[in-house]
Amino acid sequence: MKLAHVNAMSVGIFSWAALEPSEGRFEFGWLDRTFDLVQKNEAYIVLATPSGSKPAWLSNKYPEACRVLKDGRREPHGFRHNHCYSSPVFREKVAIINQKLAERYGKHPALLLWHISNEYSGECQCGLCRAAFHGWLETRYGSIGALNQAWWTAFWGHNFSEFRQVELHDWSISAAAIDYKRFVTAQTVDFLRHEIAAVRRHSTDVPVTTNLMGMFPGLDYAKLVRELDVVSWDSYPAWKNDADDWKVASDVSMIHDLNRSFKRKPFLLMESAPGTQQWHAVPKLKRPGVQKLEALQAVAHGSDSVQYFQWRKGRGGCEKFHGAVVDHVGHEHTRVFRDIAEIGRTLEKLAPVLGTSVEPEVALIFDWENMWGIEQLSGFNNQAKHYDATCRAHYRELWKRGIAADVIESIADFSHYRLIIAPMLYMLRPGVAERLTEFVKRGGTLVATYVTGVVNETDLCFTGGMPGPLRPLFGIWVEDIDGLYAGETVTVLPTSDSPLGLKGSYSAREFCSIVHAEGATVLANYGSDFHAGNPALTRHQYGSGSAYFVASRNDDRFLSDFQGGLATELGLRRAFPGELPEGVTAQARTDGSREFLFLLNATQKPQRLSAESGFRAKNLLDSTVVGSELELEPYGVLVLERGA
Ligand code: GAL
Repeated sequence: MKLAHVNAMSVGIFSWAALEPSEGRFEFGWLDRTFDLVQKNEAYIVLATPSGSKPAWLSNKYPEACRVLKDGRREPHGFRHNHCYSSPVFREKVAIINQKLAERYGKHPALLLWHISNEYSGECQCGLCRAAFHGWLETRYGSIGALNQAWWTAFWGHNFSEFRQVELHDWSISAAAIDYKRFVTAQTVDFLRHEIAAVRRHSTDVPVTTNLMGMFPGLDYAKLVRELDVVSWDSYPAWKNDADDWKVASDVSMIHDLNRSFKRKPFLLMESAPGTQQWHAVPKLKRPGVQKLEALQAVAHGSDSVQYFQWRKGRGGCEKFHGAVVDHVGHEHTRVFRDIAEIGRTLEKLAPVLGTSVEPEVALIFDWENMWGIEQLSGFNNQAKHYDATCRAHYRELWKRGIAADVIESIADFSHYRLIIAPMLYMLRPGVAERLTEFVKRGGTLVATYVTGVVNETDLCFTGGMPGPLRPLFGIWVEDIDGLYAGETVTVLPTSDSPLGLKGSYSAREFCSIVHAEGATVLANYGSDFHAGNPALTRHQYGSGSAYFVASRNDDRFLSDFQGGLATELGLRRAFPGELPEGVTAQARTDGSREFLFLLNATQKPQRLSAESGFRAKNLLDSTVVGSELELEPYGVLVLERGA
């Protein structure tokens, strides 16, 4: 581990069967030795609570700890991440083992962080979970009449007279489906709190985290993270080893930003693969440079750690071919080990970056409840919804230009930003329309797209036309949205004064809104089909700010020209004072006086960059001073310190 320059170990994630081999019989000797050895070597432990996987004795004696599946069967013992969140006996057993761990190690000097469970996910359909859902509904709606109204149950005669009549999976009531997902989050959060409370009985000052999985659709992470001291996530990008690798890099960057934005604080990269992921369709080996690029990319976006799954390849089990720092061969003379050791040495040089922040002027809204609404949406274009891909496409236009962004939910605080991009904000949660309106009124710039302002939080359509309560803000009425078949396109033509530098003809696909300007300025019109002449892009001055409406899903060139033009018009801060070639990004962290500039080349080619004249900075990786002409190796990274 010292050779690998590794100084923290995540331990015990699935170790319940080793810690408590039979009910009430505990064996901590192996973990004591691990703690002591790690401490002696001046390293640290991230200690997991072991609920991610149940011991066989527990499932056998208390089958109610196992989940009930959608078909009503109780799941047999096995796999992982599959316990019932309601089961009192499971909660009791978890509390016991968590307390024992906290009591024994809570004050150990090597303990750095609590890692609560592992990758929470899933749901259970047992009687207790059903009752919990009904109780949750009752608390939310107060009366069954209010629920019937909010869910529009009279359609198809689905009116309920009691909460307990509600099924868990009646997707014909879209609001029920969305509420069920909210409930699953609430239930998971409740279980997380239960785990944390047990740890906190004996360990009050060691921070807690749990590892997240990017844009995992099953849980509203924006809610879950409120329980945590530190946000952490597991990143497993599928590098393709082709010319599109930079898009993979941009997509991963967006999730790093999401994790940083939850608390507007540094986060931790809890897991990443040393080498390959055996579960990818084609477990590609990382090309030279990619491992380090992936690691430093996390740091560039605000991670204060680079951690790996796994230290050493096991000989058996389903992940025996998953990348590890130490291979089955058993020594350190492998390319993966060398890469990890080099990253370790590099991180030591980056100590001044620790704890520094990223301060974006731009936020992109990615909202779980909105995602669930779009999942349930039946209309406009059911074959090509692509909410998350749409968010990624808008994000990429910032990444390409080295413009930092927070990725926030729609109910987050907007006061930090000058520009908010809100792709496909189909569902307006309570207060969001008012706050977006206020944001623009006070000078902010807002970008929204097709499929915006359609429903409220229980999926009831706004009356009075789309985009609902945002109609005055955008100065438009969206009469309808045309769905386009795959391959079908409509042209988009900017008006003759080339607003924002838009030029030529663009092409729309999949969604074409029919927009009436009601005070907004039309910046582009459609040029074909029966849409010809209708507005395709509008801007509305509102108070001291502007609200843009992109009426159709357009080609990449449009998005690039539009967001590029907007960035120039607004003078948005860019991390690098110069042009960035395709596939290269720049990201910066700052401690208020010094700035740490990360230049990341996510392409297979060497790249040259020219900064404005007079540019000077210290290369943190080799302590040289660099000027305005810079070179990046294939998949290469530079970390520069400015303003020291
Ligand atoms: C994570 C999980 C690890 C390991 C890893 C493999 O999702 O937390 O336990 O399975 O994936 O990539």
